[in-house]
Amino acid sequence: MQKYDNCWLNKDTFFNKNYESYILHGDCDITNSIHKEVGYFLSLRQVYEENLADLVFKKLEQQDSSLGIEGFKIDIGKTTYISSNTPVGLLYGFFKFINLLQNDNLSSIVEIPKNSIRMLNHWDNINGTVERGYAGSSIFFENNQIVKDKSVIYHYARLLASVGINAVSINNVNVHKIETYLIREPLLSCVSDIAYIFRKYGIKLYLSVNFASPVEIGELDTADPMNEDVINFWEKETNRIYKKIPDFGGFVVKADSEHRPGPFTYGRNHADGANMLAKALQPHGGVVFWRCFVYNCEQDWRDRKTDRAKAAYDHFMPLDGSFDKNVILQIKNGPMDFQVREAVSPLFGSLRKTNTVLEFQIAHEYTGHALHVFYLPSMYKDILKFKTYAEVSKDGCIMDILKHYPCENNELNGITAVAGIGNDFNLTGHKLSQANLYGFGRLAWNPKTCKSEIAKQWINSTFNINENAKNIIKDILITSPQTYENYTAPLGVGWMVNIYTHYGPSVNGYEFDRWGTYHFSDRNGMGVDRTLKTGTGYTRQYLDKNFEIFENIDTCPDELLLFFHYVPYTHILKSGKTVIQHIYDTHFEGVEKVEEYIKKWNEIKEELDIVSFKNVKNRLQEQYRSAKEWRDQINTYYYRMSGIEDEKGRTIYK
Ligand code: GCU
Repeated sequence: MQKYDNCWLNKDTFFNKNYESYILHGDCDITNSIHKEVGYFLSLRQVYEENLADLVFKKLEQQDSSLGIEGFKIDIGKTTYISSNTPVGLLYGFFKFINLLQNDNLSSIVEIPKNSIRMLNHWDNINGTVERGYAGSSIFFENNQIVKDKSVIYHYARLLASVGINAVSINNVNVHKIETYLIREPLLSCVSDIAYIFRKYGIKLYLSVNFASPVEIGELDTADPMNEDVINFWEKETNRIYKKIPDFGGFVVKADSEHRPGPFTYGRNHADGANMLAKALQPHGGVVFWRCFVYNCEQDWRDRKTDRAKAAYDHFMPLDGSFDKNVILQIKNGPMDFQVREAVSPLFGSLRKTNTVLEFQIAHEYTGHALHVFYLPSMYKDILKFKTYAEVSKDGCIMDILKHYPCENNELNGITAVAGIGNDFNLTGHKLSQANLYGFGRLAWNPKTCKSEIAKQWINSTFNINENAKNIIKDILITSPQTYENYTAPLGVGWMVNIYTHYGPSVNGYEFDRWGTYHFSDRNGMGVDRTLKTGTGYTRQYLDKNFEIFENIDTCPDELLLFFHYVPYTHILKSGKTVIQHIYDTHFEGVEKVEEYIKKWNEIKEELDIVSFKNVKNRLQEQYRSAKEWRDQINTYYYRMSGIEDEKGRTIYK
């Protein structure tokens, strides 16, 4: 535990009141965890003279339907009551209570999560590596086995429960050979040991499965979802899993995507594939998360008609209404792939008869590999507030959509995220990235929570520092996404990163490749024409109002201009600047801001523990080096392309 003590649940000044005793009745895995947690926190408290109150946990005899299964009430008084219909509600209530204490904000409250699915997807491989992970190796697997020492998993489960996460999938969506056998003994028993730890914290375990399992481990010669033997195979496997893990959540599936097997091989569609698995899970209450990240990854760059952005909608929209009730379509926030800035997927607001979850990425694949500071809740909030104009609420924003379709208050909708955690001492690599894991949980629980409140809470719960230092950290967090966006690919065009690693600049890294991710820069201008009138027609996938906004260059927001339009370098943005001047200005400003972060971070050295100080300082130095590289490569490239001088005469290498 000591090694992993550097996080928001381990700050040692939890109690500014001395809770003399606590009462908790009940005997189940979760109430045992509550006993442990309370004991743990009591042992950390600072002891004050006064004995102010007692703490009583009340599992409601008479169910309060307004609280649902996970909601809770905290009533502060001489005796403080935490009440809920269920043990997990009490657990969430206790963690919230701790959070209120840490933030010096103790008051009576009622909380009910807004989303019923609040999930993390781990892209961990059984050899111990983590795909797109920058925080050390897997906490679940090592050397083609499940880890023996599970203390980190236990610590992690507590952290997740403390921010309301209730589901995890533990292995990579790219299910390789050995991982295919996670559904079978002897590995299944080990998976069950992990499920046991998560269960104590109200978290259900899921597995990513290989659609071709019947062939790879079942000695069948087909994985056709309509084939009787295949159907029987999955039924048997699923029954066996539930014998071992009675509350197993279900499967996550990446099919017919980036060379993963799927129903297309057999002339079947995604609904055929997903429903077959869903039927095997249904008697046990399990669900299938079927990912919509499906596109042609063998595109010819010469082909200007195919637009990767259109793929998910084209594949899944025609199938709306044909999925079983326990299938959930998992949709990445954007139509491309977790870019720093891209449009929001048009499937949201369009799919109306199907369960959906929104997929975010906490792993820093395109956001600086946990070497650059990037506060993701800002990006998440922009997406959650995006207006689809579907008729579910005033603007049909994403957070309303999630709750609405296919029926109001749907119980199978929510948010999931690619976790990106590893066994680094702080789990996230960059100390400040902990705020992203924390913030994801808070937003999945309540998408209305504001990003600066989240930053404030995380800082208060994590550091014992003065107000000035808190403000400095908060300012770095809040400004960090804009800073990063400023020195990387401009105006929503995306990529320009080194191929495969996705770290550092390479303007044309993907330009002549097969991945469908192009910027089309030439001597006159740049950007992807996705309009209906002259381009790929992607804009038409949005509902009318957004179609009009994005189709029209005058109403398209600046930050997405190059995602939707090809424009000359002299095009005037709404800011009044030309595109080329915007590129130069933002790239200089981005680097200057990183310089400022370094200065500010050094200023608060005395306030911080040395481990956190060094962790961030070293990373800021790398961020500075990398940001300069980005600035100079992008500015030089566009100077050479356009031949237009920087108005301010700054150094551009020619
Ligand atoms: C991206 C990422 C892959 C990942 C894929 C996915 O393409 O680079 O590593 O497997 O997304 O989401 O499935």
